[in-house]
Amino acid sequence: MRLIFLGPPGAGKGTQARVLERRFGAAQISTGDILRRHRADGTDLGKQAEGYMQRGELVPDDVIIHMIVGELDQHPSGFIMDGFPRTVAQAEALDAMLTRKGWPIDAVVLFDADRATLISRLSARWSNPRSGRTYNSVTNPPKKAGIDDDDGGPLVQRVDDRPETVAKRLDVYDVQTRPLVDYYRKVGKLVEVDALQNVSDVAGQLLRSIRMEPAGH
Ligand code: AP5
Repeated sequence: MRLIFLGPPGAGKGTQARVLERRFGAAQISTGDILRRHRADGTDLGKQAEGYMQRGELVPDDVIIHMIVGELDQHPSGFIMDGFPRTVAQAEALDAMLTRKGWPIDAVVLFDADRATLISRLSARWSNPRSGRTYNSVTNPPKKAGIDDDDGGPLVQRVDDRPETVAKRLDVYDVQTRPLVDYYRKVGKLVEVDALQNVSDVAGQLLRSIRMEPAGH
């Protein structure tokens, strides 16, 4: 399975990537999670990315593309790209890498929702920085507020989920990433999922649209 998840911040890309990971053992490649790990470890890459991420801007294409080359090599049997590509230049670089490897993409899944929903989801998001698992204090709270159900450690709110940064990230998506919808539609790879549904209905539509489950199952 080789999939790309496309959609604005808060649409539920990470949540659904983890559904496929649990069900099929698919490997999630989340560029946001990788960058956050670099920041936590204080690497050069993490330091380079920090300012862009805090401002809600995209990290420069050359930095991200260089990072993805190494990640791809670790997943010869398939992956779900979550958060990459995010610009036409990144998409073209990914096309070239996959063509060289002879690894065609099965589908690009677009998750979309209205701006008010995205803002309210992000303002209620809590995550486990150790595992990447996310909760929502309104729609999917942990058993104990602020504590991860799995490892019992603390949950955190992302600094880029502050309202002013969320607004910036949504604007950046519209200008720099939304053009990829047409890019992938033109090559016949795009499938669309209504991200306004609850998590399990989104997962059901996703599985049907990538034909991992019979229609109506
Ligand atoms: P990244 O970490 O990729 O963030 P994002 O794309 O902005 O996406 P999010 O993680 O915010 O949202 P999501 O769609 O995964 O939603 P989630 O499932 O968590 O990127 C962060 C930064 O890194 C960027 O701003 C940039 O600086 C940099 N970066 C990363 N990749 C880059 C690249 N390729 N190029 C350049 N820079 C890059 O869900 C959100 C909330 O909603 C959760 O609380 C969840 O529980 C809840 N929820 C999910 N689904 C539902 C549902 N169906 N119903 C109700 N609630 C739901």
